[in-house]
Amino acid sequence: MDMEKKYEEVKEILKKENQEQLLIRYNKLNELQKEELLNQILKIDFKQMNKLYEGTKTKKDFKDTKVEPLEYIDKQKITEEKRKQYEQEGIKILKEGKYAVVTMAGGQGTRLGHTGPKGTFELEIGNGQKKPLFTLLSNTIKEANEKYNVHIPWYIMTSTENNCQTVNFFKRHNYFNMGENNIIFFKQNEIPMVDENGKILVNEEGLVKEAADGHGGIFEALRKEGILEDMKKRGIEWIFIAGVDNVLAKMIDPLLNGIAIEKKCLAAGKSVVKSNPKERVGVFCKKNNKPSVIEYTEITDEMAEKVDENGELLYGESHILCNLFNIKAVEEITKNTLPYHMAFKKAKYIDSNGVIVVPNEPNAYKFEAFLFDAFETLDNMAIMRVKREEEFAPVKNAEGVDSPETASKLYIDYIKNRK
Ligand code: UD1
Repeated sequence: MDMEKKYEEVKEILKKENQEQLLIRYNKLNELQKEELLNQILKIDFKQMNKLYEGTKTKKDFKDTKVEPLEYIDKQKITEEKRKQYEQEGIKILKEGKYAVVTMAGGQGTRLGHTGPKGTFELEIGNGQKKPLFTLLSNTIKEANEKYNVHIPWYIMTSTENNCQTVNFFKRHNYFNMGENNIIFFKQNEIPMVDENGKILVNEEGLVKEAADGHGGIFEALRKEGILEDMKKRGIEWIFIAGVDNVLAKMIDPLLNGIAIEKKCLAAGKSVVKSNPKERVGVFCKKNNKPSVIEYTEITDEMAEKVDENGELLYGESHILCNLFNIKAVEEITKNTLPYHMAFKKAKYIDSNGVIVVPNEPNAYKFEAFLFDAFETLDNMAIMRVKREEEFAPVKNAEGVDSPETASKLYIDYIKNRK
């Protein structure tokens, strides 16, 4: 279709949808940008956007949801005999080349004051040395490759914003000597941001203001980007999915895999004990008999503080975004779309007078899908409680809790104690 025609078509759609502000900068764009903008607009699902915007006006409540604690296995309490048996099953999967790792690295290091992909953020690891998060994670995979004499494929989820930089970073590091063929990149989807009146925002370049669709976007991306197909071709059956920000993520864990197999669960997850009722982590639970996570933003104080007969928090199994899925579960999950949660954020944009607005207060809605909403598709999930100091050192905030300082200390101590 020629540009002129495309432009007319887009104009028509926008008039109908009452979103004509999206062309405010059109005439100032170069030819390439013009085309990009028109394509962006043609891709927007306006019906979905309207629904999402309407959803921002209603508050979710859980009155009709039966919430209960979810059973878990404490790694410390597994007998030696059982542990060996589980591990053997898991090791078999690894040796047969049926295991893959996915790192969700769609985020930027903005909260850390870092420009560029979060995975390129450098963490202090002792003796004045600093290493990017990607390097630390690659070490975990390389160790397992050596230990089990395998080449575990490593899939990296990026976003439109950071794909190029991420791929270049890996090229520059010669794919950590793991072989280019064993590292596969795929991009997550983006979704436009809207203002308080439901108008889709225009970014500073004059294009549609879009944001990554949350880590729950991974499932759609795995299917759409042909990753599931690639995994099937390689004979992958089990997929470990974790965020890029946990430097202690134990991504290759035959014990967890063995437990999932033994319990006939198509998914498994790791938990750590919630440090206090107010800790800002989601906790595993059952919602209407299905495995789920209740976010720290959703849990009532009463539920958060409730203890069991041993004095432990009843909802105390923190979800650390370290989960294992059978490929069949992923295929099932991708048949439906996950719900979007909205976040009210500060977003720079160009208003309908063509003026750049830099807000001091939140002014726009961002829509994100959460990976753990997918758990409800499953009948059951095996949860293994692990030690925080061995498996959870997130780098999220510039300072304070879950900061480079805390993660660095956890990492250094872990390496020291392991020796
Ligand atoms: C998340 C979980 C919380 C959990 C905690 C553990 C949510 C809403 N909450 O919190 O239950 O206890 O982690 O650390 O997720 N990412 C993408 N693309 C996106 C968004 C995120 O790849 O669109 C990746 C990030 O790069 C990061 C990970 O997902 O590696 C976690 O995302 P983040 O938004 O930081 O989650 P939290 O709010 O910290």
